[in-house]
Amino acid sequence: MTVTYFDKTLEIKQRIETRKARIGIVGMGYVGLPLALLFSEEHFVITGFDVDSRKVDTLNGGRSYIVRIPGEEIESARKNGFAATADYGRIVEMDVVIICVPTPLNEYHEPDLSYVTGTVKSIAPHLQEGQLIILESTTYPGTTEEVVVPLLEAGNQAGLKVARDAGSAGFYVAFSPEREDPGNDTVARRDIPKVVGGCGPAALSLASTVYASIFNRTISVSSPAAAEMTKLLENIYRCVNIALVNELKQLCLRMDIDIFEVIDAAKTKPFGFQAFYPGPGLGGHCIPIDPFYLSWKAKEFDFHTRFIELAGQVNLAMPYFVVENVIEALSRHGKPLHGARVMVLGMAYKRDIDDLRESPSLTIIELLQKRGAKVAYNDPFFPTVGQGRKYALNMTSTPLERIPDFDCVVIVTDHSQYDFAKIVKKANLVVDTRNATKGIEAANIVRC
Ligand SMILES: NC(=O)c1ccc[n+]([C@@H]2O[C@H](COP(=O)([O-])OP(=O)(O)OC[C@H]3O[C@@H](n4cnc5c(N)ncnc54)[C@H](O)[C@@H]3O)[C@@H](O)[C@H]2O)c1
Repeated sequence: MTVTYFDKTLEIKQRIETRKARIGIVGMGYVGLPLALLFSEEHFVITGFDVDSRKVDTLNGGRSYIVRIPGEEIESARKNGFAATADYGRIVEMDVVIICVPTPLNEYHEPDLSYVTGTVKSIAPHLQEGQLIILESTTYPGTTEEVVVPLLEAGNQAGLKVARDAGSAGFYVAFSPEREDPGNDTVARRDIPKVVGGCGPAALSLASTVYASIFNRTISVSSPAAAEMTKLLENIYRCVNIALVNELKQLCLRMDIDIFEVIDAAKTKPFGFQAFYPGPGLGGHCIPIDPFYLSWKAKEFDFHTRFIELAGQVNLAMPYFVVENVIEALSRHGKPLHGARVMVLGMAYKRDIDDLRESPSLTIIELLQKRGAKVAYNDPFFPTVGQGRKYALNMTSTPLERIPDFDCVVIVTDHSQYDFAKIVKKANLVVDTRNATKGIEAANIVRC
């Protein structure tokens, strides 16, 4: 009997619904690993692909390298058949492959798609008929159709092409953005609706079936580009609104108005207002980076994304604003920044997480050091901080007991395990960039 592609999609759907489908997840990072565990909890046999052999070994040893994922969760996934590998040859065993690799910016603030293209080129030689390939990495609209599909088509020896409808031969491709908010436990991961855009209706339908097994709601859009743009709109919305409150905070400080009090009052309006909070600058893998994927792509269309550029300017200036405030606060205490001992509290880019990518703390420490301060840091999530793509700190976390030895403590990340009343009591001077000292009355606090 000849198996038509219509039969093939039904067959894959059945394999998904009966949990027999084999799912490969490429990139065992903050996005890929939790996703692998979600599928595993639903009794799929998952293979995690990663080029980092330490991650592969750790996972296969039943251990975790992400603080909020306990080792027991890896252990129980292992019992459900989860294993990690660096061997792309095993792609042939998969029905579905989901790509969750990094999409950073290069030194010129342009998209660096090398992880995506590297991954796709590694998958292509092993591609099988009827396989579904889904990209989850955040990227500019057009990446799936203009970059992923051509590389997959060019890189497989069997001459397979993307199947745009159920009747045609080939492989299926879709894009579905990750929408996780690290450290936010108020919404269960499966309650976050999953947006999906396919290269044709068959891919869309298959990808929606895959995600419906772990998410309560899937949202279909008409194309991968619409799904790519949806993710960017969400992050640009945050980036622009954070820039707005960061600017208004600076005005409020001059006018002696408490911006946090104002936001708390404004958010009582039951419609038309969503609260965003000012801070020391943007951090993380998404908000400081993703908007620039769109502004880069927009240039191809002779279009300037002015909101993104302006928000970028305001947000990028925030660590400098913090340092100016440290300088002013110290000088009011008769001390120059040069030679002053400064402790930065919090290295993570936000509260209660173990991720320091693009953290404003890194920039603030660098700026303070350049101006001659002797800087230390404390962060319960980072006993040491070595080198990254954009920093070389090589520092060790200083215990909080040492706070009285410092001329100034700068609160950059308001981890919930910090006892701020105690910190204020021990410190000579506190510069608070997060309103962490709200309700504490003391002359040594400078809020900025
Ligand atoms: N972290 C988040 O909260 C978050 C939220 C939404 C979207 N995203 C997006 O998801 C994507 C992944 O982000 P992340 O935070 O998980 O990154 P990550 O750096 O934590 O993980 C990426 C993993 O991919 C691996 N990798 C790199 N190149 C590879 C290759 N060629 N083959 C196999 N593995 C490879 C790395 O070793 C790493 O383990 C990015 O596009 C990011 O913008 C992240």
